[in-house]
Amino acid sequence: MEEWGEPGPADVAYQSQAQAGGFGHTLASLVKFLDLPNGARVLDVGTGPGLVVRLLGERMALVVGVDASAEMLRHARSLSAPGACAPFVAGDALRLPFADASFDAAVATNLLFLLPDPRAGLRELARVTRPGGLAGWLNPSDALSRAAAAEFCDGRGMTGFPRFSLINYARIAEGHHRFSGEAWAELARDAGLADVVTEGRGGGLMTIGKGIVTHG
Ligand SMILES: C[S@@+](CC[C@H](N)C(=O)[O-])C[C@H]1O[C@@H](n2cnc3c(N)ncnc32)[C@H](O)[C@@H]1O
Repeated sequence: MEEWGEPGPADVAYQSQAQAGGFGHTLASLVKFLDLPNGARVLDVGTGPGLVVRLLGERMALVVGVDASAEMLRHARSLSAPGACAPFVAGDALRLPFADASFDAAVATNLLFLLPDPRAGLRELARVTRPGGLAGWLNPSDALSRAAAAEFCDGRGMTGFPRFSLINYARIAEGHHRFSGEAWAELARDAGLADVVTEGRGGGLMTIGKGIVTHG
């Protein structure tokens, strides 16, 4: 399996299965936390199989999923309801193919921690969001390691794919950025966000956050 940089068919199937299971509940919990108003225009960056797009789709005026992987985009499109108004677009999180202030909100789940410079990713979320709009994110926290994931699974009797995927997530996180909620909040403020709020998820192994875009 690749490291989520240039996914192949096995990664697409894996991501899809992960979103259908425990990670899907965490994504749904992030969507609730974001509390976006009905009718908003939303961008989901690093959308993968597109679950966040589908969770938001019903209530929003427009939800666009962007991903660097053509394979992942093909899969996300195949899962969309026929006639759904949710375009999936190719693009790089660090150079999004949208003009400034194109959206009311921009979200990135399990993406920013993979980037060489997560703050640049946050800045790009802020750039494509209108002033007063919202940027939101979900990432592994600094508490996530393979040992912590195994302990979490043991404590909850998690076996099979849910256990495998959480420990695999920890393995990938160990090779990338793992920040505390407060460290993410600081990066977000540096990227031009205000009123930043962060919370833990998954027993504190993940961190979610949101902030208001302030640039004009
Ligand atoms: C771990 S998956 C997360 C998928 C989904 N957001 C979730 O939380 O389940 C990371 C996704 O980001 C995409 N990706 C990785 N680097 C990217 C980049 N620089 N720009 C856009 N997408 C990227 C990958 O193709 C993959 O679909």
